[in-house]
Amino acid sequence: MIKVESIHKRFHDQKVLKGVSLNVEAGQVVCLIGPSGSGKSTLLRCINGLETHDAGTITVDGNAVDARSKHIHELRMQVGMVFQRFNLWPHRTALENVCEGPVFVKKEDRVQAREKARHLLDKVGLGHRMDAYPSELSGGQQQRVAIARALAMEPKAILFDEPTSALDPELVGEVLSVMRQLAYDGMTMIVVTHEMSFAREVADRVCFLYDGTICEEGAADLLERPQHPRTRDFLRRVLTSSDAPST
Ligand SMILES: Nc1ncnc2c1ncn2[C@@H]1O[C@H](COP(=O)(O)OP(=O)(O)OP(=O)(O)O)[C@@H](O)[C@H]1O
Ligand SMILES: [Mg+2]
Repeated sequence: MIKVESIHKRFHDQKVLKGVSLNVEAGQVVCLIGPSGSGKSTLLRCINGLETHDAGTITVDGNAVDARSKHIHELRMQVGMVFQRFNLWPHRTALENVCEGPVFVKKEDRVQAREKARHLLDKVGLGHRMDAYPSELSGGQQQRVAIARALAMEPKAILFDEPTSALDPELVGEVLSVMRQLAYDGMTMIVVTHEMSFAREVADRVCFLYDGTICEEGAADLLERPQHPRTRDFLRRVLTSSDAPST
């Protein structure tokens, strides 16, 4: 579904991605871990065309992702993105936030779009808060609206960039449980996360990005048996920090 082949990306004279390759089959969940500044967000942004890449190729369901292409808009619709900050429209209700894309971008029928949005908000456990504004919702609820909003576009895959790291610890679980359900429903996902217990449970594959290259990758048990000293060192630090496994 997602094929990244040897991509390179630099900002000015700083090389940020140095030949990253990654394959994600339909229905797979890949967790991307790695230290701050290793290029995780840049990689996700290249995959959905928010950022151009300098060399290499990226395809989503067989279509080349080229941020400069005039078709990038359509391609971007096929890959949902959920960010650390929820980026909801502040003056629109939860329901309106979820309807917006389908109605204005995909030109779906308004009545049907609202019906679909209700169903999706129900699915993320917010059936009772559809008419609330973002400021009236907790961080965890806002993030669940953001997930429903991504789903409303009926994407082929969803990229999550540290979706729980801006949340108070007690709100992390409700967002992870929605993501876990999505994974079991067969959604193709790439998840940048420091939630190692989530990765262990849900990931088909874990990739450790270090300084712009994938230093080690493997099944979820890589988290128990890392081979590379850098992976070991990273995991030791993450697992001993206060926000280690919470779910
Ligand atoms: N738009 C930009 N312009 C210039 N430099 C950038 C830009 N975006 C990212 N960078 C640089 O690229 C490097 C990788 O950044 P990136 O955000 O991909 O890292 P990350 O792995 O997501 O880190 P974090 O865990 O802190 O989110 C960093 O050194 C960052 O400063
Ligand atoms: Mg990042």
